Order: sequence, then structure tokens, then C-alpha cells
Amino acid sequence: MKIPLSAPDVREEEIELVAKVLRTPHLSLGPKLPEFERAIAEYIGTENAIGVSSGTAGLHLCVRALDIGAGDEVIVPSFAFVAVANVLLYENAVPVLVDIEADTLNLDARRIEAAITPRTKAILVVHTFGCPAEMSAILDIARRRHLYVLEDACEAIGAEYQSRKVGGLGDAGVFGFYPNKQITTGEGGMVVTRNSRLATRVRALRNQGRASSEDWFQHSELGYNYRLSEINCALGIGQLSRIEATLAMRGEIAKKYNDRFQKNENLRLPVLALPDRKISWFVYVVRLSEKYSRVHRDWIMHELNRRGIGCGRYFAPIHLQPAYQNAVARTTDLRVTESQASRCLALPFFNRLQDQQIDEVCHNLCELIPLAAKSASATGS
Ligand SMILES: Cc1ncc(COP(=O)(O)O)c(C=O)c1O
Repeated sequence: MKIPLSAPDVREEEIELVAKVLRTPHLSLGPKLPEFERAIAEYIGTENAIGVSSGTAGLHLCVRALDIGAGDEVIVPSFAFVAVANVLLYENAVPVLVDIEADTLNLDARRIEAAITPRTKAILVVHTFGCPAEMSAILDIARRRHLYVLEDACEAIGAEYQSRKVGGLGDAGVFGFYPNKQITTGEGGMVVTRNSRLATRVRALRNQGRASSEDWFQHSELGYNYRLSEINCALGIGQLSRIEATLAMRGEIAKKYNDRFQKNENLRLPVLALPDRKISWFVYVVRLSEKYSRVHRDWIMHELNRRGIGCGRYFAPIHLQPAYQNAVARTTDLRVTESQASRCLALPFFNRLQDQQIDEVCHNLCELIPLAAKSASATGS
């Protein structure tokens, strides 16, 4: 791709941090893991942070640690990455897929109560694309209905709701560090929680069910190897140390896109600012206007790719995934999800994206939109 959809931003000093670890005998379970965990805990403002091998692993461990199991229902948005529902199916729990708000693309708090049953145990809220969900309404429902709140903040490190960092607002939160994220460790994730008992449980489950006082061959419960290596942690420490500059840079890029697209009435642009919220930009997603359909969007994506411009359909709803056709999941009215998802288009978005690359993306997209209606039907796609 001439202009990729995403690209990691790893600096020389971070490569040196990783190289230093490789010269030590500690490639796993050494000093870098607690150092990275402390740095994240301090940044988010939670007492506890537990490094894990991926965001998915972190979500799975939270589900286990909260004792969410067979037949328990959990409210999740369908407009989300599939892992949020997969981690429930791993434990034979039931994802209850709820619709989103059209403006923020986040779980619609007004639709949660109608989806609650006596089996509901938790709300798994996603801060979609780095935009904080409506947490005061969600936390209020959870308090009244005695539900856990698990925050999927995999796309939202550094985002704030009412001046508090997301991830630290519910019972537990999870970050993801895949290379397209605001900060990366290659692969990796982090669970954060103010609840020390929960943290102890997640720590044990991460490490094959070993309690910290036990020896290597003593396993007090069924666990996993979801550890995060010293190599990953060294990179994470370096990336986290300059996160504020990274978030500012990404905010600037989103603004540049919005400025260039401002006059295009065929596009609905992401909001740059919302009251009480600080957005941490993960991806830049535009929506085609309502006269366009999925066919037009897919044709535009195909053409952008042909021209060397990366793009993605963030998100393809979970309930429409082939893997979910026979899954034990409950769907509610998902009209907004289906309508918005079919017209979403993620454009190239990464720290080092240059102004002339932004110009090129905008020029090509604006040229393709009016051609889409004709060409999409002509090709029968
Ligand atoms: C919202 C959301 N949840 C969970 C995940 C899973 O994270 P990972 O890929 O690190 O397992 C992702 C990653 O893309 C995500 O975007």
C-alpha cells in the first residue's frame, strides 16, 4: 500500500530499550513487567494493573475473574470488535447484543435496561474508536441493577470521561497494544482495576492459576498462559513515556481530515469534541450519507485499495459475522448498528501520516464518492 491504513511508530530509543532487555537473562517475568504495570496504573489512576498477552486475553481474564459463566448474560454492543463477544462464548456466557447511538457509535445507554434479565451479570462497554461511552448513565444503571461494568478500553488509552481516564471507571478495564493502537507492545494488553481482590485473581489466572505465594508447579485453579514478555514491556514503557505527544498528534490528524472534508455533504464526519469527554484517536472513520449503501461503500473501498490507499470497514457488526450465525447469543433491535456499519469507512490513520498523504486520501475519496452509485451497480457488486 502506498498509504497504509495504519503503521506503528517505534522510535530508535524504544528499539534500544528492547535490545537492552535482550542482553539480560530476563526475557519473561523480570523487572520490566512490574515497571510497565506501575506506569500504566499511575497513568490511569487505578491501584492495580496486570500486563497480559493481548486485549482479548485481558477481557477473557476479567470475565473469568468476575465469575461470569455458563448461561450468564452480558450486555455488549454488536458494533464492536468480535473479541468482546468471543470472550463470553469462551465461558459459555451469553452475549446480549445491544444497539448504539448514531452520533458516537457507542453503546446506547437508553437501550440497556430493556435488555436486562435476571440472568444479566454485567455490562461490557466499549469506548469505540477512542471516544468515551456515556459512563455516568451506564454506571448508574449498573449500580441500580447490581451489575458489573467491564470497560473495553482497547481502543481508548488516554481518553477521559469527566476528567477521569477511561478503563478506571468500572469494575475493571482492559487496554490493547496491537500495532495499530495508540501505543503498542507488538502484541499485548493490560487489565486495570481498583479492586485488589480482582487484581490478585487476574494475576493468578494469567500465570497458569498460580497464586503468587505458590511455587512454579503449584496451581490453585485452572489458568492460562496470558503473560506479557519483558521484550513487550520494554517497548510499552518507551511508548507510554511519550503518550501525550502521540495523542496530540493523532488529534491534529483527525482535525486535518475533518477540515478537508468539511464541505463534502456526502460524508458524515466524526465529532472532534464532546462535552465532558476527551477523545483518544484510534482510527479515523467517516460515514457515507444515507443515500449510499454497503455496496457503494465496498466499491469505494475496493477502488481506494486499487489506488494504493488502505482502508477498513470498522466495524462489521458481531451479529452478522458467520461465526455468530449459530452462536448462543441474544440480539435486540440493532437497526442503528446495521445502518451505520454498512456506511462506515476507516481511512489511513497513524502518527507519521503526512499532510500530502492526507490530501491524497481526501482527493481520492471525494473523487470516488460520486462515481460510486454508477460503478457499483454497473459492476453488479
Ligand atoms: C474494541 C476492541 N476490543 C478488543 C480488542 C482485542 O485486542 P487484541 O487484538 O489485543 O486481542 C480490540 C483489538 O483490536 C479492540 O479494538
